[in-house]
Order: sequence, then C-alpha cells, then structure tokens
Amino acid sequence: HIEQDLSGQHWVITAGPTMEAIDPVRFISNHSSGKMGYALAKAAIARGAKVTLISGPVQIAPPAGATIIAVKSADEMLAACEQSMTTQADVFIGAAAVADFKMKVASNQKMKKQSDTEEVTLTLVKNPDIIATLAKHKRAKTIVGFAAETQNVIEYAKSKLERKGLDIIIANDVSRSDIGFNQDENQVTVITQDATWLPDKAAKSELATQLVAFIQQHIKSAL
Ligand code: C5P
Repeated sequence: HIEQDLSGQHWVITAGPTMEAIDPVRFISNHSSGKMGYALAKAAIARGAKVTLISGPVQIAPPAGATIIAVKSADEMLAACEQSMTTQADVFIGAAAVADFKMKVASNQKMKKQSDTEEVTLTLVKNPDIIATLAKHKRAKTIVGFAAETQNVIEYAKSKLERKGLDIIIANDVSRSDIGFNQDENQVTVITQDATWLPDKAAKSELATQLVAFIQQHIKSAL
C-alpha cells in the first residue's frame, strides 16, 4: 500500500526526444529513450497525483493512468505544456531532451538530391527553452529540470538552476556509459537553492520513486 499523499495534485511531465522536421521525410532528433520521464510519471501516479505526460516519440509503453499528449517538435511540446497548465499545475518536471535547434524553414516538399552538389547547408535556429518559458510564467508551483553534463556537473547544473528559474535541478553525468541515456539505471545529483543530495545509483524506476518523494518533501518544507 502506497500512501496517496499526492491526491489532488496535478503534475505535468515532459519526456523523450523532440523531433524537428527537415522536410516531410527527414528530421533532427536524439537518442533519449523517455525512460526517466515515464518512470517519474508512474511514481507520481502511484502516490495519487493526476499526471499529464507530454511525450516526444518513444518506443516504451505509457504508464497506466497518465493523460498522454504525444508531440513531435519542441514548438508542439511547448504549446501542449501551456495548454495543460492554463490552471497552474503543482509540479512541472522537464525530463524531455529537447532539440536545441530546428530548421529555420522546414521544407514542404521532400528536398531533392542534386547530382552536382557535394555539400548542403541547413540553416537552423534556436528552439524555445520550454522549461525556462514555463518558469517565467509560473505555470507550475514547483519546477524541476534535468541537466545532462559531461564535466563540472554540479557547477553547470547550479548555473542552469539560476538561469532558467528552477526550484530543483537533477544533474547527471552523461560521460559515463553505465548510466543515463538509454540505460535502465541512473545516478544523479539533486540540487536546490540550498541543498545538494546524491542518491545511490539505482534503477530508473527506483530512483523515480525517490525523486518524487524528494519533490514532495521540498514542497512541504517550502509551505
Ligand atoms: O539547457 P539544457 O538542455 O541542458 O537544460 C536541460 C533542462 O531544460 C531539461 O529539464 C530540459 O527538459 C529543459 N529544456 C527545455 N527546452 C529546451 C532545452 C532544454 O525545456 N529547449
């Protein structure tokens, strides 16, 4: 029996990669599996939260009981987040690996191979920063981000916490091949304005349970 201490709360979670169209048949994306975001959704539902899971294209099964909104691009993901939080949510967790760039102009037609050209140039522009936008407009009472870093993990994560206006940031070292991207296990450092917590390396499902408990504690202590 798990205590239903999140009942009455609305949690919105993004997960997976975004997919940015180059033309009708090609895209720019990344290797995010969605496992961490889906595990967080499952853990929050287990404690009674109402969960909206806004997901890029992934190959894993949706957690039972979540409201799923399937999106492709970062622009679609941002729009879905804003629509889900017209009433302020309790918690937003940005676990998605949002593509940094999209095509300045995606082609309506399949781009033709030109036999006489050895090189093509695609002009990309910055995608919106979804979590920073939501934080700026206070779309959720508590905003939690992830930071995948390969060096100076804690320092970079802390500056991201400040710059994006987040309450909590969950940092992981993606230079390690045994954890993170596409792996079933993860090891993270949880950072808030005034605390740092290093949970043991664990299965993403177990870690998600601990992270949801940490977020709930953080909310309670802020009251
Ligand atoms: O800037 P960086 O991608 O390292 O920040 C990671 C955090 O910001 C994650 O929580 C990710 O979901 C979020 N993010 C976002 N929109 C972007 C880029 C990152 O919401 N365009």
